Amino acid sequence: MKPPYERPVIVRHQVGGLNKFGAQPAIRVYDKFECVPVADLVAQYGSPLVLFSERVLRERFRELRDQLASRVARFTIAWSYKTNYLGAICRVLHQEGAWAEVVSGLELEMALRLGMPGRQIIFNGPAKSDADLDLAFREGAHIHIDHLDEVALAERVAERRGVRPSVGLRVNMTDLPVPCWDRFGFNLENGAAMDAARRIAKRGRLNLTALHVHVGTFVQERDAYELAACALAKWARQLREELDVHIDTIDMGGGFASRNTLQTQYLPGEQASPSLAQYADSIVTGLELGYAGQELPRLVLETGRAVVDDSGVIVATVVGNKRLTDGRRAVVLDAGVNILPTAYWYRHDIFPAQDVHGTAEPTVFFGPLCMNIDVVRDRILFPSLKAGDRVVIARTGAYNVTQWMQFIAARPNVVMVSPTGEHSIIRRAESLETLLQQEHMPAWLA
Ligand SMILES: Cc1ncc(COP(=O)(O)O)c(C=O)c1O
Repeated sequence: MKPPYERPVIVRHQVGGLNKFGAQPAIRVYDKFECVPVADLVAQYGSPLVLFSERVLRERFRELRDQLASRVARFTIAWSYKTNYLGAICRVLHQEGAWAEVVSGLELEMALRLGMPGRQIIFNGPAKSDADLDLAFREGAHIHIDHLDEVALAERVAERRGVRPSVGLRVNMTDLPVPCWDRFGFNLENGAAMDAARRIAKRGRLNLTALHVHVGTFVQERDAYELAACALAKWARQLREELDVHIDTIDMGGGFASRNTLQTQYLPGEQASPSLAQYADSIVTGLELGYAGQELPRLVLETGRAVVDDSGVIVATVVGNKRLTDGRRAVVLDAGVNILPTAYWYRHDIFPAQDVHGTAEPTVFFGPLCMNIDVVRDRILFPSLKAGDRVVIARTGAYNVTQWMQFIAARPNVVMVSPTGEHSIIRRAESLETLLQQEHMPAWLA
């Protein structure tokens, strides 16, 4: 067969095309999602298309669970709803034994509707209302208090309900090798956390049983976890000695890096991000140091992106090609930052979904929005694509289906593929109808 014509190209040599481990990896064709041809999925559900692998999701969760099980006697993994609260995703993780970790009244209601008992729901977040706390106490959810006004509100709601609920305090720390997220919780080093604990103990309307810290997100410095766990453990011992407060749960929040690659990162995420085993090791080492031989409390993790990122991909179709004035090849896709906000942070891997020919050259992938910052990937070596070709954007499972925006284009179908190759929509595509349904035309404009 005569090979297809290839237009000759001159590729300017640019630093960055190589890394110290060798040449760029060969372009891999990603034409099947699990065992199902990508082309069939797009033919059935349209493009762009958000896909989730149930198998990968379960495997990643089990990996984290096994790492904890081999190190501590009592632990809980609570699924961070904000990372991905599609019902089917939460259902899979709850089936695996995850509790729910929610940060708003809306998420609390989602978890309850999915059938989670209140005692398996952890309620974080800086803005809980009277009604939110009332529902949480009614259902027996575990609230983690963020600020002093919330202490007062929780005391009032508890008194009104005639209950003395167990609560946790969210704590932040300055002495860690990561920026301090001091807008959440009470600072440990300056005494604000101790003041809050004293007040709770003195008033006696709430039962302080848990300490919570979430040191940040995509934290690659795992020392931060060891130091934070150790500090919380020491403080728990101090609370017992000074205030007779018995802490039975230490919640280390989320924040583990996924295997994506940050925009600013030299090495690929697969090499730069610690493994789940390494994170678990750091936390347990920190707790053991802080508890100095005493029995460890129940450890809670609220890991989000490191569990779900790998299970999702976005399939996009090439709308057209163009050449930028600096010589780079540009490809316009039908998926952009509207459904892939993580493209602002990550250099997502992109793969062709069909055979490709020709020389790979630096390519920029744009999305479909009439907006200059709609860039899916600003530089990647890629062979030429033609209109109608498909690409697969990898590791998109975290935060995209919760932070996506309805701007210019409607949100697409989301489909889950089972380990045996069954597939089904888990969230229907939106349409003009979806938007108009929420609008109202005032009578005077009718
Ligand atoms: C309190 C809390 N827990 C858990 C998470 C999940 O974090 P990640 O997805 O970084 O693991 C977040 C996210 O910011 C959070 O705020």
